[in-house]
Amino acid sequence: MPKITIVPDYQKLSVITAEKIVSYIQQKPDAVICLAGGDTPLGTYQQLKTIVKERSIDISQVTFVGLDEWVGMNETVKGSCRYTLNKHLYKPLNIAEENILFFNGKADPIHHECKRITYEMNKLGGINLILLGIGMNGHLGFNEPNVSMDEYAHVVTLDAITRKVSSKYFATPYPVSKGITLGMKTILSADKIISIANGTKKSTIIEKIINGAASPDVPASLLKNHQHVEFIIDEKAAKYIPNSTENFI
Ligand code: F6R
Repeated sequence: MPKITIVPDYQKLSVITAEKIVSYIQQKPDAVICLAGGDTPLGTYQQLKTIVKERSIDISQVTFVGLDEWVGMNETVKGSCRYTLNKHLYKPLNIAEENILFFNGKADPIHHECKRITYEMNKLGGINLILLGIGMNGHLGFNEPNVSMDEYAHVVTLDAITRKVSSKYFATPYPVSKGITLGMKTILSADKIISIANGTKKSTIIEKIINGAASPDVPASLLKNHQHVEFIIDEKAAKYIPNSTENFI
């Protein structure tokens, strides 16, 4: 059974999630941690920066792995996944470049980048802790509906919903059509998974994920088969989740 934690608001979601990441690092200072881009984790990263600085948490041995990137982009594009992580986490925390493994969406040919990341992931021995957002269509990273369970790093043709939603990340329209992402095989091999969602706009997909069957049609629902997964959801996103008070914080 997945653990489902429902919190009153985004602030609480961010604090709790950051505390969980920090306590994981304290238990395993050389952890391999994969962190999503997107908007949902930005509050968590804000909290993480504060906690790490205020409590002088040693993160020097942590390896930070990027979950995904838009094909055709690298860190120079404002709105790319790497740009977001650089701005909100890596740079403020002075993470050394050798402790970051991230997709270069501009690699040519792009499938070599899948091989490189899969090779490096194997060298690292997989992911210890992964933090995931959830797409409006239930995607994880860029693993879109009807995802294959057998993929490691791979290139994906983006779903129409993902392409539409993408405009929120870029100041000027950017015609995205493909993404490069860690696959479900890699994601589901992580020792621990935290998946976060907030806001009314996510309530319909959260209802499908939590109340529906685990199915590749809704990639995030597949997380429910993992032994150590926790969904942390604010009350707005959890609008259609049955009121089981034990899940509430
Ligand atoms: C971003 C990523 C995506 C997002 C998802 C939710 O690196 O992997 O799967 O987590 O699209 O995006 P937001 O958080 O912007 O709603």
